[in-house]
Amino acid sequence: MLDKINDLLEEVKEFDAKTIEEAEAFRIKMLSKKGTIPALFQDFKSVAPEERKEVGKKLNELKQAASEKVNTVKKRIAAAEDSRKTAGDKPDMTIPANFDPIGSRHPLSVIRNRINSIFQRIGFVISEGPEIEDDWHNFSALNFPEEHPARDMQDTFFVNKNPDIALRTHTSSVQVRVMETQQPPIRTISPGRVFRNEAISARAHCIFHQVEGLYIDEKVSFADMKQTLLFFAREMFGEQTDIRLRPSFFPFTEPSAEMDVSCSLCGSKGCTVCKYSGWIEIMGCGMVDPNVLENCGIDSKKYSGYAFGMGIERIAMISYQINDLRMFFENDLRFLKQFESASPH
Ligand code: PHE
Repeated sequence: MLDKINDLLEEVKEFDAKTIEEAEAFRIKMLSKKGTIPALFQDFKSVAPEERKEVGKKLNELKQAASEKVNTVKKRIAAAEDSRKTAGDKPDMTIPANFDPIGSRHPLSVIRNRINSIFQRIGFVISEGPEIEDDWHNFSALNFPEEHPARDMQDTFFVNKNPDIALRTHTSSVQVRVMETQQPPIRTISPGRVFRNEAISARAHCIFHQVEGLYIDEKVSFADMKQTLLFFAREMFGEQTDIRLRPSFFPFTEPSAEMDVSCSLCGSKGCTVCKYSGWIEIMGCGMVDPNVLENCGIDSKKYSGYAFGMGIERIAMISYQINDLRMFFENDLRFLKQFESASPH
């Protein structure tokens, strides 16, 4: 008897129907008074007492499975018929709307917004400028000598030669435009896309994003810059973050420095992210070269200022521990979906 019940259970499991009539026929066959299952209940009387418990249980299971199956199949067919009827009729306003799934911020936008808001909170305003720039705003005003290698075809995508028009290689160009049109005090940051003719790899791309900053007023000192950048680093990477400035060179700043932050992943003990040095380089900075101020019509005897610039990709890679920069540009949803819960603005 057990075998028979098991076979029937299998049959119930496999059963499906296309019409209500088919489903009803199955119900009659299995569950009506003269159907297979009630007949088994009749036979149950002759089951040996020691087997009754097990067989009884199975039998009830079968009865339940059969009536559930008939019900779900009937319901499904009825619902399908309903919607077919209304579709041919007028639109059914009660059908729940099919909402488009809501997207999420790109990780670079999340990080850019965080950087922006840290500086906005201390009085910096956002300025933007064109991605296609002339030589003056991208290079000459910034004190790049004629023969400076950064002007070379290798680094710069030229749109036109003579006059030189190029895709901007940094957003310092925006700051030249600000200095040309405003008098100090100036506190501005310029986030934006920049372009360099570099081979694409895990660490470099020909398109990337920067946030550059500029602060000009009377008596602005290197110490002011250091304090502001320390504030930024702690807001961005956490309270316990330290910074370190190493001497460097940029044509538009003097003195110039490169800024490192202490590695928050290993607490400066040394790990793969900081390459066992305890420090991670995140930006260039320095005091604006007086030549640059003069080029832009600002009195360098009266005013001084500092500037800084960082790559958003780099900050995002550190913040999210991403080790391949190309991920940001591939738009692979499996990657992007991981940032759904990141800061909303
Ligand atoms: N413009 C520099 C770059 O793109 C960064 C920088 C900005 C350095 C301001 C110093 C001061 O690499």
